[in-house]
Amino acid sequence: MSPRFAPSFTRRHVLQALGVAALPAAQPPVRAAGVVTIRLSHVVTQQTPKGLALQRFKDLVEQRSAGAVRVAIYANSSLYGDADEMQALQMGAIDMLAPSLSKFGRIGFPEFEAFGLPFLFESATQIRKVCDGALGNRLLASLGRQRMVGLGFLDNGFKHMSANRPLLTPDDYRGLRMRVQDSRVIAHQMRALGAQPVNLSFGETRRALASGVVDGTENPISNFWTQRMHEVQTDLTLTQHGYLGYAVVAHRDFWGSLPAGQRTLVQEALREALAWGNTIAQQENDDALVALRASRTTRIHQPDASQRERLRLAVGEVYDTLEKRIGGEWMRALRASLHS
Ligand code: SIN
Repeated sequence: MSPRFAPSFTRRHVLQALGVAALPAAQPPVRAAGVVTIRLSHVVTQQTPKGLALQRFKDLVEQRSAGAVRVAIYANSSLYGDADEMQALQMGAIDMLAPSLSKFGRIGFPEFEAFGLPFLFESATQIRKVCDGALGNRLLASLGRQRMVGLGFLDNGFKHMSANRPLLTPDDYRGLRMRVQDSRVIAHQMRALGAQPVNLSFGETRRALASGVVDGTENPISNFWTQRMHEVQTDLTLTQHGYLGYAVVAHRDFWGSLPAGQRTLVQEALREALAWGNTIAQQENDDALVALRASRTTRIHQPDASQRERLRLAVGEVYDTLEKRIGGEWMRALRASLHS
């Protein structure tokens, strides 16, 4: 059985085999023979914008430290999935993560869920304005409340809807069970469209689609393609209705335990890798669309302007609900940042 689907007792055995005890207390980073190993977990494959950017980070760190700092990447939910990776970071069983921004909502940062608002961003330029500006810095700094250090933002790209039928207008969503990541905003978006949201870990999504536990989902095409969801979804509709991006975080104790020189080296390597990742993300999604078209497994639909407008109007209420939850000040700051 792949570790991705392994029950928790097996995961514990994997941890023990890696020299990581069961998770009661924060642990220092793994050090052996003077080499520090940074353990970094994520849920997508290596051939995605996130997988590639984090591989670049690893390469830069290992080259520049001449092997004194290593980065062990556990990709594709091979060690932790969505359900347990945040807890693993808090416990010190892993040192760094790069979760979707929306997933910070459930651990006490509902303002991060604003990134999942449907039809919020119109362009990559707007995304950069928010992430690289004062608001982005404020969001990263706020992670200190949960003993995390926010190290930077990374793009995947715009999400599209898939199912075994076209999803061009709200009528098409009625009654469908749609997988969502753990975000109240995204669940609300699906309800507003007439679908039933089903909260599932990313690593379980393809199997749930294949077995009919859920009917459809939303993804940037790079995630859809690299999880082979095209083999189990007959239709992809290019709704471009939402954004998927990530924050790279470390546990505060781990970060503080790095000697200053190594911390600077790691921070600089990450800054460069994320900047590079943000330049290749769109191309990765474009390439995945080309590959998807060539595979001929999945019909691809393009909503026209009036269909897209109907989708946008249907999800308008999601903004009001989030604004009530996080307060008008955040939403005003977000809008100001978008249009700065
Ligand atoms: C990811 O790209 O990290 C996963 C996003 C999702 O859960 O849909």
